[in-house]
Amino acid sequence: MISHDGSESESGPGMSGAGTLPAVEPLGREGLDEAAKLHVAELGEEFVSRFGVRFMARYYRAFVEGEDARALCVREGGELVGVTVGATDAARHYSYLARRHGPALAFEVLLAAARSPRLAAELVRTRLLRYVRGLVRVVFGATGGKKVPEDDSGSGEGPVGFAVYVAVRRGRRLSGTGRALLSAFVAECERAGAKRVDTAARSGSAGERFFSSLGWERVEVRTSRSGERYALFAKRLHPEVPTSRPGDVG
Ligand SMILES: CC(C)(COP(=O)(O)OP(=O)(O)OC[C@H]1O[C@@H](n2cnc3c(N)ncnc32)[C@H](O)[C@@H]1OP(=O)(O)O)[C@@H](O)C(=O)NCCC(=O)NCCS
Repeated sequence: MISHDGSESESGPGMSGAGTLPAVEPLGREGLDEAAKLHVAELGEEFVSRFGVRFMARYYRAFVEGEDARALCVREGGELVGVTVGATDAARHYSYLARRHGPALAFEVLLAAARSPRLAAELVRTRLLRYVRGLVRVVFGATGGKKVPEDDSGSGEGPVGFAVYVAVRRGRRLSGTGRALLSAFVAECERAGAKRVDTAARSGSAGERFFSSLGWERVEVRTSRSGERYALFAKRLHPEVPTSRPGDVG
């Protein structure tokens, strides 16, 4: 078990080493479908959720298998009640994700678009060009695919982590599960040598309030090219590292 402070613990399900927060454990391949369903149910407003459970399972798989990523979860009586995925080195992980999982993810997007003309139209109008540009930049980037996402390299001061998603099942919220998941992820970033962890949350969302409550530094509010407003947050793991502008969102 990985406890909320990132230390290994022998404690059983439902108990952290500190005894108060839920125990966090790695998400395994066998939990991918369950995690994808939880994501689609609890983060349904995210555009990517519209690509469906199979897409999300493949996306989460990149975090389960990637060296520079982590997928963590909380279970109660075997049932998945919370999950988080993130990169301990965002530039390296997104390069890996695009190369290793990009074709399969693109295939799932095409299937979803074929099933829903409305989704297809919205995809083309708001995101397709950006997705393709991002993919090209990652796969054929001048730095051997290391510099992705944009401005997320920490200005050469070391790897920068990115907390991508945290989702806790409704009915199990406000009891420390989200906090435990995020703390364990941040500890993993620190252990992996990251100098900072970034994240983005939709303006006015529960996520924004959650990151504020946990004391993350609000860096700026940005409007993505798809027109959504996001608050960008950072958590410095070493205070001497200046915060650079986080990357593209949405
Ligand atoms: C955001 C989310 C992950 C929080 O999970 P959780 O298990 O309820 O969070 P915790 O119980 O660990 O709460 C941690 C802190 O955040 C605060 N918080 C959590 N949700 C909040 C909300 N909706 N509004 C205000 N504060 C909130 C808690 O009060 C707590 O702060 P405190 O210790 O000062 O009281 C959960 O609401 C969720 O899954 N939402 C949908 C998905 C989402 O928005 N994810 C975040 C962006 S990817």
